[in-house]
Order: sequence, then C-alpha cells, then structure tokens
Amino acid sequence: MEQRINTEVWKALIRAFLPFKGRDVISILDFTREDLEELFERADYFLEHRRSYRLLEDYVVALAFFEPSTRTRLSFETAAKLLGAKVIGFTSEEGISIAKGESLADTIRMLDAYADIIVIRHRYEGAALFAAEIAESPVINAGDGKQHHPTQAMLDLYTIRKLYGSIDGLVYGVVGDLRYGRAASSFIYGLTLFKPKKVYLISPPLLRARPEVLEVLKERGIPFEEVTKVDEVVEEVDVLYVTRIQKERFPDPLEYERVKGSYRITIELLKRGKEHLRVLHPLPKVDEIEPAVDTSKYAAYFTQARFGVPVRMALLILIAGVEP
Ligand code: NCD
Repeated sequence: MEQRINTEVWKALIRAFLPFKGRDVISILDFTREDLEELFERADYFLEHRRSYRLLEDYVVALAFFEPSTRTRLSFETAAKLLGAKVIGFTSEEGISIAKGESLADTIRMLDAYADIIVIRHRYEGAALFAAEIAESPVINAGDGKQHHPTQAMLDLYTIRKLYGSIDGLVYGVVGDLRYGRAASSFIYGLTLFKPKKVYLISPPLLRARPEVLEVLKERGIPFEEVTKVDEVVEEVDVLYVTRIQKERFPDPLEYERVKGSYRITIELLKRGKEHLRVLHPLPKVDEIEPAVDTSKYAAYFTQARFGVPVRMALLILIAGVEP
C-alpha cells in the first residue's frame, strides 16, 4: 500500500514538474495553456540554436504514416534526426504487412517493440488513441481522420505567438473545410486554451464545424460566430487561418462537387483587411489561395511550416524528459 502511494505521489510529481514526460499526444485539448507555453519556450531555444544534438541518441522514433504527408512527416523526421534519434517507419499501407491482411493492432505492437516514441497518422478517427492503448511507448497523433492533429495546432499557435507576440486578444477567422478538416478543428480547440477576442468560423453551409467542436467553444466561453464568406469579416480579423477542402474525406463525391472552389483568398480581398493581417494555412493548399498571395506580406504559411521543426524538437525532448 505504502509502496503504491509512493508510486502515485511520484507520478503526480513527475506530471507536475515534467508535464510531457512519457505522455501520449492525442488531442490538443489534453494540454493546458501552461503546457503549451513550456513547449513554446523550448521551441524558441531550438529555433535559435538549430544544430545537431545527441539528446535522443539512444532513441528510436517510428514514423507510422498510413496516410500521405509532406510537412508533418518530414518535419518530425528532421526534428528527430537533429536530436540524434534513429528514425524508422513507412509512408503508406502498401509497403507493410497491412497489405497482407495484418491488423492495425499487430502493426502497433511491432512498432512498440522497435521504437521508443511512435508518431502515427491514419485515416480513421480514434486510430492514435487505439495505438496509445496498445503501445507502452508514447504515441503522438499526427492526424486521425477528420478528428485531431494536435502537433499542427501546436505549431500554428507557436507561429501566432511569434508573429503577434501573443495569442490572446486577437480576432481569428478560420476558413474552409471545418467539417472534415482535422487541422482546422485542432486549431479551434487550441484557441480555446487561450483568450481570443473572437473566432469567426467561415465556411460554406455544407462545411460548417462539427457540433463537438462548437460545444467546446461554448463550454469554454469563447466568443464565436459562424459566417459563410470571408468578405463579411475581412476588415475585422487579425489572423486568417485558411484550409483546403478535404476531398478525400467526403463520403459522397457529388457533395464535394457542390462545394469545390467555393472560396478563394485573393490579394484584392486581403488589401481590405488590417495592416498586420496574416494568412496561415496548414498546407497543402490547392486552389483556395491565389498564388500572388505567396510572395506578399500576407503569407505566413511557409514560415509556419518551417516552425514545425523546432516545435516538434521541443515536443520530442519534453516527452523523452531530457533537456538541451
Ligand atoms: C493537414 C492534414 O494532413 O490534416 N496537413 C498537415 O498536416 N499540414 C491539412 C490537409 O491535409 O489539408
């Protein structure tokens, strides 16, 4: 009994002082503002001191990507390698034994046997949580269906803190596919950990945010409004977070045809906004942003993608419980 109490006390102490150590990262809602501030401070360090470390040299990091990815996978790989970790993994189901009929559970067991940290992306909602229940090693959700993409939200919020000095007090416009977009949902969830002045949810009626997302905004007392067009609010917002229509998640291709090309961010439109208005986008973008925006002062999305490396370096060392 005494032994057990000691273990519990020890665990609580570790949680209090090392809130990330050994932890699964499934949803941004599992974290507090203080957790994220700690993460951002570490990310600042890695942004300023971009070099190779040996902090994770005894670690194997598995990148288990069952779905396509450019930035998330490559920035995790870069982060892990800069920290000295060994990286294993795959980029689709074709090259692994899932193609022969092996179960996801068995695949996870194998990753757990080889790796100390597992990063997983999967088309099914709940896949990362499922993996975390099976694996002893910490699991990081790199996107599960339309549901969560917590590390994307971490780097999005970090970008805003870098650009504006604070995440609080700003007016946000989240544009696009709020129904099927996990990056958009996680970003909205992430904002609820801070004090935004207002959040506009901007989408065609078919792509409105899911009820569970609206519920969190209500519960946490975040002022928000659903609108259909960016035009309606462009003068008012400080940050426009634009997202791609998630074509691959539409159960009905006809439904996709109905919303395809329904919004486009142009320079003309952005010029009507505030001087400091910036556009974020988790990328990939397809046709929702006019290419001329890319080279304008409004585009913050390439910088945002670059911040993926220091933020993920910070996350990996905090989970491993090591310090630079
Ligand atoms: C997003 C994703 O995969 O959810 N991309 C990313 O990780 N940066 C957004 C998208 O695919 O539209």
